Amino acid sequence: MSYRKRTCTCGELREGDIGKNVTLTGWVDTRRDLGGVVFIDVRDRYGKTQVVFNPQTNEQVHKLAGELRSEYVISVSGKVERRPDGTENANLPTGQIDVMADDVTILNRADTPPFPIEDDVDVNEETRLQYRYLDLRRSPMQQNLITRHKMYLITRKYFDELNFVEVETPVLMKSTPEGARDYLVPSRVHRGKFYALPQSPQTYKQILMVAGMDRYFQIVKCFRDEDLRADRQPEFTQIDVEMSFVEEEDVRKVVEGLIVRFFKEIKGVEIPTPFPRLTYKEAVETYGSDKPDTRFGLEFTNINELIKDSGFKVFSEVVKKDGVVAGFVAPDCGNFTRNQLDVLTDFAKSLGAGGLVWMRVTDAGVETPSEKFLGKETVNAIQRRMQAKTGDLILLISDSWSKAYTILGGLRLEMARRLNLIDESKNDLLWVTDFPMFEFNEQEKRYVAMHHPFTSPNGEDASLLDTGPLKARARAYDLVLNGNEIAGGSIRIHDRALQSKVFNLLGINNEQAKKKFGFMLDAFRYGAPPHGGIAFGFDRICMLLTGEKSIRDVIAFPKTTSAISLMDDSPSEVDPAQLKELHIKIV
Ligand code: AMO
Repeated sequence: MSYRKRTCTCGELREGDIGKNVTLTGWVDTRRDLGGVVFIDVRDRYGKTQVVFNPQTNEQVHKLAGELRSEYVISVSGKVERRPDGTENANLPTGQIDVMADDVTILNRADTPPFPIEDDVDVNEETRLQYRYLDLRRSPMQQNLITRHKMYLITRKYFDELNFVEVETPVLMKSTPEGARDYLVPSRVHRGKFYALPQSPQTYKQILMVAGMDRYFQIVKCFRDEDLRADRQPEFTQIDVEMSFVEEEDVRKVVEGLIVRFFKEIKGVEIPTPFPRLTYKEAVETYGSDKPDTRFGLEFTNINELIKDSGFKVFSEVVKKDGVVAGFVAPDCGNFTRNQLDVLTDFAKSLGAGGLVWMRVTDAGVETPSEKFLGKETVNAIQRRMQAKTGDLILLISDSWSKAYTILGGLRLEMARRLNLIDESKNDLLWVTDFPMFEFNEQEKRYVAMHHPFTSPNGEDASLLDTGPLKARARAYDLVLNGNEIAGGSIRIHDRALQSKVFNLLGINNEQAKKKFGFMLDAFRYGAPPHGGIAFGFDRICMLLTGEKSIRDVIAFPKTTSAISLMDDSPSEVDPAQLKELHIKIV
């Protein structure tokens, strides 16, 4: 079919173009028939332009306009005219002009779409994902992809300026140690053997340091078979970074520089550096999270000292067992009804709490059912320590260190939401440092690496690997933005003996270590430089920069929370012949 090619996009025409003859191509957005004159908005990625089909301009073309329906693809030509006084649209960049149609070609017809192509559509996400090509036709989604594209450019330019080299690493590789389940790919040639898709390029980037590349980065897909949430996808994108001859400070500087650029170039916002820092212990004990949202207060106070000798067994026993009694003040919530307090208690229980102790600070003093166990004096001391004012509500939890703070962390976020305390205009960036090397996994009865097995212990804590591994801190760091973990990394172990020791602590014996990571331990024989790095969660940063609530909205073709691609229906069954070739039987 021959048709007139566009002379400009649908977002381009302004007053200065009045009088020109133009051709637009795009989709029919809206169509209004006002007493014989038909108005059509033609849409493409760049915007919308109003085209007027007036029988007086061209009768035949006006007739064709009657055939046009939403989402038809057209080429339309005509003269640019000023809109009549009072009909300008200030909300549309092209709102000062009309194109008076004197030629139109229908390039393709369209079925009625399952939902209208509008900025705000009232349709469930499944339908949007099934018809992703229509969803992506919507301007906010196109803007998200464009922001993402800008982020790729900023990233590549930034790292290039700093002498980093982008190196691609394999997608078919050996299993990696990020702690999630692997996606496996069977080998046809090597019966019974599998590749794993990278959970991250961690091992390769460290080997690139041994190879002397000095400064590496890569925008790279990672694959993890884990439970999905709004901020997790089975395949996601990282900006992966590794540097030789560096300490924490050097990595932090590079990271902060990129974040500053993202904010400046994408949002026009200046972010001050250096970013604040909290140790893992401070973060957990103050906010109940290793990725604290610091856009609001509700900070915790530990009251172990005040209640350790009290007659309230629930509290004093917990302190005896090295647990914690702590809580926070909910400002101006002293008027919560019993019913509201019951709802809060149930919420705390749903987070795993045994109960929730509350205290209302009233004109007549502190009011709490716990007074009969704690005594008036202790209750008043708690109020003073927590600096609760008249009209405030004190909420307290008692449990083991990690449980108490985790529950308080959940409660803190919930109260912030209920009380509308979160200032969405804030961009709170924060480093969390000094993570523990290990956590104890109760189910598997073994230590697991809190970051990954290649993370170096803190120099001062190296001896703790022998005496109290759970007390050893790692040279690991996470970057947090408004309560979201947006990057994580560490200074690595570059010494074979220390690496073997850490593997052993993780329950990986020498033989297993050789089998799994022998290539890396071998590489370390030949002069591994001290090195460290980090990986940014690209999708999460894009989500936060675009103000979206889910990373699915900044990924062109994402999967659902049950890891399904609704558009192309994957995963799907495969041909039995394919399975046979791969030596696989479904049981
Ligand atoms: P980590 O596992 O912390 O570190 O991952 C780095 C960052 O990637 C993002 N992220 C995810 N985003 C979307 N969906 C997921 N399933 C997902 N999982 C992680 C997070 C996280 O901060 N190799 C190390 C990095 C290093 O040590 O250099 C690693 O992958 O924003």
